[in-house]
Amino acid sequence: MERAVLITGAGSGIGLATARLLAERGYRVLGGVRKAEDAEALKGLGVEPLFLDVTREEDLRRAAEAVPAGLFGLVVNAGIAVAGPLELVPLSAFREALEVNVLGALATVQAFLPHLRAAKGRVVLMGSVSGLVALPLMGPYAASKFALEALADALRVELRPFGVRVVLVEPGSVATPIWERSLRRAEGYLKPPPPGTEGVYGRYLEVARKVAERSAKRGLPPERVAEAVLKALESPSPKARYLVAHPGRARETLLLRLLPTSLRDRLMARFLGV
Ligand SMILES: NC(=O)c1ccc[n+]([C@@H]2O[C@H](COP(=O)([O-])OP(=O)(O)OC[C@H]3O[C@@H](n4cnc5c(N)ncnc54)[C@H](OP(=O)(O)O)[C@@H]3O)[C@@H](O)[C@H]2O)c1
Repeated sequence: MERAVLITGAGSGIGLATARLLAERGYRVLGGVRKAEDAEALKGLGVEPLFLDVTREEDLRRAAEAVPAGLFGLVVNAGIAVAGPLELVPLSAFREALEVNVLGALATVQAFLPHLRAAKGRVVLMGSVSGLVALPLMGPYAASKFALEALADALRVELRPFGVRVVLVEPGSVATPIWERSLRRAEGYLKPPPPGTEGVYGRYLEVARKVAERSAKRGLPPERVAEAVLKALESPSPKARYLVAHPGRARETLLLRLLPTSLRDRLMARFLGV
């Protein structure tokens, strides 16, 4: 039987690279998109587009009716980056990050679990190194990816009796549109700094812009993450987590997790230039 995989957020970046790779490997790929031009582009790759906004119950219900009864894989990839100094981030923007990256992820899993159970399929959640170490200026995004780690830990055990495996892929910086989108999004929502704080926050915003620009240019190609997703789907005994990062970044992440908090904070403050 043809192995079907559904990928959310398949219109660009990691989702698109994954859809392309899986289609090349002979999977029947269903790609969640929100724009007609993305749907057309997917068709050209042999991927079946599905209009799916993961925050809309109606979309999820319709998509669940459209996919085959037995689903080999569900790649929960749709996500947004909401960043900025926490004092300046309106709660509405923070809420949106949680709405898409956490509740949207859980809603997606809930919607397609009957299909996955039928085929003892796998769930691949798109985490991040931001779910392992919360860097300053990435607070809302990191909070959402930490929450995803918690969901994965709980789901992995809860779904064990059904033979449905749950795997987290944790990329470092990847060269996708998310960085540019995050900068543009922040320009729209960040509150002006309170009087007297302009110097510090001005410096932070400059650092944030540089990090985003560098990541967009020098991040890993999304195809590297797509390969990790393939491994997560196909390995006879998949790991709970696949960290996908430049070796230096992977070492840095693991080191930051081990360092005493006071030392880690000092390193971060130096990085921010404060
Ligand atoms: N790039 C990185 O450095 C990096 C690192 C670690 C983890 N990740 C994670 O990888 C995943 C993919 O990100 P990416 O880097 O490939 O960025 P991207 O190119 O911006 O892709 C994000 C995708 O998610 C979709 N999306 C956003 N909100 C959605 C919603 N409410 N419902 C359905 N789809 C929605 C977007 O669709 P539209 O185009 O319609 O908005 C887009 O297709 C995210 O979960 C991200 O957190 C990325």
